[in-house]
Amino acid sequence: MAGSGAPASEGAGAGPLPAPRHVAIIMDGNGRWAKARGLPRAAGHERGVEALRRTVEAAPELGIKYLTVFSFSTENWRRPAAEVSALFGLLKAYVQRDLKRLASEGVRIRVLGRREGLPRDIAALVDKAERETAHNTSFYLNIAFNYGGREEILRAVQKAADAVARGELDPAALDEARFGDFLDTAGIPDPDVLVRTSGEYRLSNFLLWQAAYAELVFMDILWPDFDGEALKRAIAEYHNRERRFGALSSGAA
Ligand code: IPE
Ligand code: IPE
Ligand code: MG
Repeated sequence: MAGSGAPASEGAGAGPLPAPRHVAIIMDGNGRWAKARGLPRAAGHERGVEALRRTVEAAPELGIKYLTVFSFSTENWRRPAAEVSALFGLLKAYVQRDLKRLASEGVRIRVLGRREGLPRDIAALVDKAERETAHNTSFYLNIAFNYGGREEILRAVQKAADAVARGELDPAALDEARFGDFLDTAGIPDPDVLVRTSGEYRLSNFLLWQAAYAELVFMDILWPDFDGEALKRAIAEYHNRERRFGALSSGAA
């Protein structure tokens, strides 16, 4: 179930705050990174994959359980065909190269987003990655690929409507938790922190439902430069925030 409420264990004020359970990242700035070096945009995307590897390695060491990364949006189809195909090629190469190791390290991989419209080979690879890691529980890597928050919500509404039409769901019983089960993130807790690199201050259609109470951390670093130290800075920023979930400050009388 996609937990929508506040984690029960947080906010009492005693001791250091625990690591965020779920960190979501909008990996942005590959193009600018390349441009600054006189390189083609694809070179920035390639270096971006290396940053992803570093981040996936660092996250569990920092106590994070779930990492969700935005790697291709439903709007990114508006880019030139050559760039789109370079991005698809990089996803394919990443999964092909890292799947075995991630699987053996106990990482469960899930790919969020619209599966229809993906090239057949990519869809097959994504299915394989999910299948071969489905039993893993030590770390959860969610790759948002061909993902848009609105598109995901619309698909969830369609699934819910289908369930109603089949007589399997009473519309009055559709609460936030039940609705969360129709989303691609079913079973994944909501992100505690949402990081965006490259100095842009927007969500760009990422996790619109799930990020309702995420702490938003915007960083100037360009994604290809991201690493475990940058992730630590993002977590430190999260620790500086006071999460109230609509209630009063813990210090308030
Ligand atoms: C992020 O880098 C990767 C994707 C969106 C696929 P960009 O390609 O958006 O890089 P900038 O924003 O142009 O620098
Ligand atoms: C968001 O970045 C999508 C990904 C990181 C995959 P964009 O670069 O596509 O977002 P905009 O266009 O700046 O909003
Ligand atoms: Mg961008």
